[in-house]
Amino acid sequence: LRLNHPVFPMSNEDSNRSWMITKYDHVKELLKSPSFIKDQKKLFSQSSREDMNEDELNIFQNMMLDVDPPDHTRLRKLVQPYFNPKTIKKMEPRIVEIAQDLLTEMKHKKGTIDLIEDYAFPLPIIVISELLGVPVEDRNKFRKWSNTIVAASDNAAVDFQKDVEAFTAYLTRLFERRKKEPEEDLISYLLQTVDEEEQLTTTELYSMVVLLIIAGHETTVNLISNTMFALFEHPDQLSKIQSDQTLIPSAIEEGLRFYSPVDFSTARWAEADIEFHGQRIQHGDLVIASISSANRDEEKFNHADQFDVTRNKNAHVAFGFGIHFCLGAPLARLEGKVAIEELLNAFPNIDLNRTMNRPEWKPVFLLRGLSQLP
Ligand code: HEM
Repeated sequence: LRLNHPVFPMSNEDSNRSWMITKYDHVKELLKSPSFIKDQKKLFSQSSREDMNEDELNIFQNMMLDVDPPDHTRLRKLVQPYFNPKTIKKMEPRIVEIAQDLLTEMKHKKGTIDLIEDYAFPLPIIVISELLGVPVEDRNKFRKWSNTIVAASDNAAVDFQKDVEAFTAYLTRLFERRKKEPEEDLISYLLQTVDEEEQLTTTELYSMVVLLIIAGHETTVNLISNTMFALFEHPDQLSKIQSDQTLIPSAIEEGLRFYSPVDFSTARWAEADIEFHGQRIQHGDLVIASISSANRDEEKFNHADQFDVTRNKNAHVAFGFGIHFCLGAPLARLEGKVAIEELLNAFPNIDLNRTMNRPEWKPVFLLRGLSQLP
């Protein structure tokens, strides 16, 4: 595709025209261009905030990831202080503690360890739950809900509706509790901003928390497990970071590039007719970026298909680009670094269980993650 159809028409139907962008430079151009907008409703009216019906709670409406400036700017500014590298850095000792507790449990576990189930999954969930102020013991519920939501190809599916309702009811109860007894967490802070002029509506409060839970759930798990998988597949690279742990941050960057945890950007819509690298994209067309493809673009990366933990100038787009660049990137990077450091310290002879079948990628669109990593 990069060579022959870099701006690829996924569907030509007039009612439903869509494109996939596969080259690194084009992907960056798309993601930073104000002509490709996030809020589909703006193609027909002013803004989704004006359309919003506050009587009917929709926990997906007006998520920061789905809106454009000025709403996007306002929503992002509200939570940005919680995700700055400096604020995130302070969480390191706690993340180390969580990793070490999980590793202790793994050492006592009988039978094969699944690096995803036993480690890569619980770690980021515990971290994001503590940051938000969501009870950690409810994490299995969140897992189910966020799995259903991410995997939903058909929003009308019965399970999807049921899970969304349960999720909404759960959050309503949690918000009530925190309103009465605020704590030092992000949810308590967000509750204080609701109703104040121009800050956060009730719908936006729900969709903000849902976005952070989902984003904090499904992605970092894949960062840790995909990077470990790449290291198992390339034992020479694993030895390099084992003998020099200062290479772990660059191994994480290479993991992000090589097995990008998020395969595609979310959708953009063309606000006008646009000529884009030889194709005529029309007003209202859907356009997505293939992040995985951009990250393997041989015109940008030398030996793009080689996994190299010492790669220099690794300017991958695994966290996106432009104004929607991943808010959680500093947190994900820190979690990845701590997770792999502690894992290698606890299990100096770690290896893939090679007597079992080769791990398989989960058959879902959007996210790239393994089902198991024994
Ligand atoms: C946005 C990837 C972890 C919160 C994004 C985008 C990507 C991405 C590609 C942009 C999507 C687009 O433009 O269509 C990742 C990866 C992660 C990760 C690969 C882990 C390895 C996290 C975490 C959080 C988070 C841990 C929060 C706790 C967000 C938010 C946005 C976002 C809120 C929307 C930002 C905006 O619209 O301004 N992420 N993410 N992400 N991510 Fe992440």
